[in-house]
Amino acid sequence: MATFTFAAALTLLMLFQAEGATKPAPTPTPAATAPAAAPESLNLTEILEKGSQFTTFLRLLKDTQIGEQIDNQLNNTYGGMTILAPTDNAFNSLKAGTLNSLNPQEQAALILYHVLPRYYSLMTFQTSSNPITTQATGNHGAYVVNITSTANNQVNVSTGVNQTPLSTSLRSTFPLAVYQIDSVLLPYDLFGPKPPAAAPKPSEKPKVKAKAPSAESAETSEDSTVKGDASRRNLGWTSVAGMGLMSICVMMMS
Ligand SMILES: *[C@@H]1O[C@H](CO)[C@@H](O)[C@H](O)[C@H]1NC(C)=O
Ligand SMILES: *[C@@H]1O[C@H](CO)[C@@H](O)[C@H](O)[C@H]1NC(C)=O
Ligand SMILES: *[C@@H]1O[C@H](CO)[C@@H](O)[C@H](O)[C@H]1NC(C)=O
Ligand SMILES: *[C@@H]1O[C@H](CO)[C@@H](O)[C@H](O)[C@H]1NC(C)=O
Repeated sequence: MATFTFAAALTLLMLFQAEGATKPAPTPTPAATAPAAAPESLNLTEILEKGSQFTTFLRLLKDTQIGEQIDNQLNNTYGGMTILAPTDNAFNSLKAGTLNSLNPQEQAALILYHVLPRYYSLMTFQTSSNPITTQATGNHGAYVVNITSTANNQVNVSTGVNQTPLSTSLRSTFPLAVYQIDSVLLPYDLFGPKPPAAAPKPSEKPKVKAKAPSAESAETSEDSTVKGDASRRNLGWTSVAGMGLMSICVMMMS
């Protein structure tokens, strides 16, 4: 929660500054004494840049300062971290204006929604129980995702609004997992339906489908009850009379 507020505050600041201005190219920092053998980079920016199709996500990580926050947390983590990185295509296929419709705090929430505060291998995803907390999850259990395993050992992430399979993993060893996703995860808390206008009445009885043609699907529950009773009576009669087979023949001939 604290980190989120911090990020949100910084976001406000950064977006304000960045407005209209093209960002200067980042000046490469002089290489510090490189670690002897670094098997896989822990630098999220580097990992995503190598993927070369995450420019929008990289920009948002930078603009919101969340990238920096992740770097710091990774340096000091027990549980590790998992990033679900939407491709540029994913952002491009959002409905026009989607990002701009969000205020800076909501944009930060959207990005934090793609960060899970622990390391998940594909295997641990499949054995973890829903819902799964994201970095945007507050005290009220908002901004969570569900994981479902698909038949061929694939993993789907769902938000309650949309769902997408995890595709390529760009990095897969503890403490950092980075998975490519081909849709932006749309948090229910931002993109879910607004307060229900015409939710179905919970008291409504399930429709008796038996004979109703689709044109009658809007019938009242009273009607379906009547029809249901009628068909139950018919069934009773045929079985009592022992003429089930016969009535089927009649039905087929008519
Ligand atoms: C991470 O990688 C980026 C791009 O290569 C680089 O600019 C940045 O300085 C690196 N950050 C750290 C903490 O090494
Ligand atoms: C990670 O920790 C090391 C040692 O404590 C420090 O030198 C380095 O600057 C830290 N990197 C980041 C990104 O905070
Ligand atoms: C997760 O699954 C539960 C149970 O099916 C459902 O009630 C909840 O709305 C789902 N949440 C999301 C974010 O998909
Ligand atoms: C996984 O998500 C895709 C949409 O991205 C959907 O077509 C598919 O049915 C989902 N699979 C499961 C098992 O939920």
